[in-house]
Amino acid sequence: MIEQKENVFVISTENTSYMIGILDTGHPVHLGYGPLVDSVPSMETLYGRVRPNIGTAAYWDEEHRDIFPANLPLEYSTPWRGDNSEPAVIVEYGNGCTALDLLYRGHRIYRGKDTSFPASVPDSEGAETLELELSDSVLPISLYLSYTVFPSSDVIIRSARIVNGTDEAALLRSIASMQLDIPSDGWELVTFDGAWARERYEHRRPLLPGVTAVGSRLGCSGNEHNPLIYLENGRGEVYGFNLIYSGCHRECIDVSPFGRTRVLTGINPYGFSWRLMPGESFSAPEAVMTYSRSGREKAVLSFHSFINDHIVSGYWKGRERPVLLNSWEASYFSFDEERVLSLAEAGKELGIELFVLDDGWFGKRTDDTKGLGDWYPNRDRFPCGMGKFAEKIRSMGLMFGIWMEPEMVNFDSDLYRSHPDWVIALPGRKPLPCRHQYILDLSRQEVREYIIDAVSSVIDESGAAYIKWDMNRTFTDLFSYGSMGTAGELMHRYILGLYEVMGRLKERYPKVLFEGCASGGNRYDLGMLLFMPQIWASDNTDLHDRVMIEEGTLMGYPQSTMGAHVSASPGHQSLRVSRIDSRFSVAAFGAFGYELDVSALSDDDKESVRDEIAFYKKYRKVLQFGEFRVEHVSPNQRFWYSTLGKTTVAAEIQTLNEVHTGRLDRLRLPCAADGKMYRVTARKERIPESSGAAGGMTEDFSIEVSGMVLREYGAALGPQFTGNGFAEGTRILGDFGSRLYVIEEV
Ligand code: DGJ
Repeated sequence: MIEQKENVFVISTENTSYMIGILDTGHPVHLGYGPLVDSVPSMETLYGRVRPNIGTAAYWDEEHRDIFPANLPLEYSTPWRGDNSEPAVIVEYGNGCTALDLLYRGHRIYRGKDTSFPASVPDSEGAETLELELSDSVLPISLYLSYTVFPSSDVIIRSARIVNGTDEAALLRSIASMQLDIPSDGWELVTFDGAWARERYEHRRPLLPGVTAVGSRLGCSGNEHNPLIYLENGRGEVYGFNLIYSGCHRECIDVSPFGRTRVLTGINPYGFSWRLMPGESFSAPEAVMTYSRSGREKAVLSFHSFINDHIVSGYWKGRERPVLLNSWEASYFSFDEERVLSLAEAGKELGIELFVLDDGWFGKRTDDTKGLGDWYPNRDRFPCGMGKFAEKIRSMGLMFGIWMEPEMVNFDSDLYRSHPDWVIALPGRKPLPCRHQYILDLSRQEVREYIIDAVSSVIDESGAAYIKWDMNRTFTDLFSYGSMGTAGELMHRYILGLYEVMGRLKERYPKVLFEGCASGGNRYDLGMLLFMPQIWASDNTDLHDRVMIEEGTLMGYPQSTMGAHVSASPGHQSLRVSRIDSRFSVAAFGAFGYELDVSALSDDDKESVRDEIAFYKKYRKVLQFGEFRVEHVSPNQRFWYSTLGKTTVAAEIQTLNEVHTGRLDRLRLPCAADGKMYRVTARKERIPESSGAAGGMTEDFSIEVSGMVLREYGAALGPQFTGNGFAEGTRILGDFGSRLYVIEEV
């Protein structure tokens, strides 16, 4: 709901309110973002009548000697007019100046939302938007700030659009999607950072005076810093931010000397510039934000439901994802049709629903040095072509899926030999290679058409129900031979081009399940999720590393979006040895599958896989679409919960088995309700003989407990094996061990 009373606007979601006031000078100021208000507060209440004096800072004018821009909580800031913190927008106009005063001119409140940006929350039904029109006090440069709410979501969507109304070209140097100025209140910044194979590890740091920034300069949202961030004050208050964008982004927090903490998110200004001709406008990508008064858990749930309800759209919205078997870690580049068919058969036997043929099926691609871009089947491997091969897979009763990397080209490929000018390259320099490949310039229409045709013909020929869309390098050598764009525009034009391609393919093949991938999680963001309902979280499938990767990912993105597979032991990335059931318990909290040679498993492990798949199918809706919660008991032990309706699947996850602790683990359920009874049951697993135990199945565990007790005290799980033998009920978890429990409200 959006209300206005005099010069105060209140934008409310189900549980939160965001308030803006307009000063009589026209400055739009932030009045607060917090719990839902019961009425529209007055300006005087929240802004005050008399404002503190700031020593050496400039004030607005002689009539407003208490308006110090250096101390104003602005909705959107500009340089060189008294506000010395990081500005939201820098535009260089006519005479090379960048100073602007963006003052209130008008507003409109309307049903729906603007969906003109190519990666924009698509459904405007039920949405309500406040658009503030600001313009400079001297030049006809305007800025439109929009704030959209959906009735049942605790998320606000923000964006900004600038219009050059002057009769000269202007150069946009930076434009934030949103600014939030809040009182400095002991905030800590939580970010999700990493690199290849260790994406989105959570980090926390105090925010001290000055600028703290994370972001990406990689050409994609990147594995170094995800656009998801939180500000937390340790007293239960949490702000969460994310960006609907897949390119270079920046999250910048500037703590001023006068108690103002400014949050800016948007396109990374690094290397960015955009020429705005007279009359032209530029729209920044949409940002999303949420507020919680009761800790991060609520903020996470708000983001999850927002993504499931409003970011993922079309056929796969809310639809259960198939259990897949991917060929990559089973055979890498060494396979032929026969080997792949026997892998698929073994998978079908165990309950797999979708078989995915990964890299190596096309052109001369027998290793990663060649063939990328030549999207026709390798006839040595698939003599009858992809159509016939896919038919064989389908005749086993499996869906067929296939891998592509459409944005890239190997320099040893027919495509590169015929179109060397299609790649991103600087004049007179050879582009830097990465995995023996170059990047196709998606800012060019003919390249976009080529990609759409290439992907369409693969889907048409094979009837693929699933495409794994990979992208395996970061960007260098920014220059475009073909587009109108300057180097400063290229990165953004590339992303706009990518959105056009994905949008048209999604429209043409609405039922095809696209899974985004970029060497694992190098492009895990809301922009990709608008077009591809799930993303391969990481090339690292090691169960211990995956706990951090998945938990970091789930702090901003729901389980349904997160590709998570069980692969071999020892793990190919870590050489860690682990039980297949423990690997399953961690991977089960995502869009689940296997990525190993299932035909080579021991009979016991095959039985385990069969049971795992059956369990996953039974609780798939809960695991993919449930409310996700985490509880850290100690650095060595944590619990994950996914709750839908009356059912919760919980995982106990431990790092190392601790010997002789005398500890009795308890399973709690943080969302258990008073006055209700719950039954807690352990998932039965096979005990490998190698564990030193007699083999057989794990102990029976089933108990009924009241909601209050389960929430506050927990149910005792029985002792773990800690070095002094087995007794009845001894549980075996071992190092990196995890175990699933089902909790049903009875
Ligand atoms: C990187 C992906 O993340 C892997 O899963 C696999 O598809 C390889 N590329 C194939 O080259």
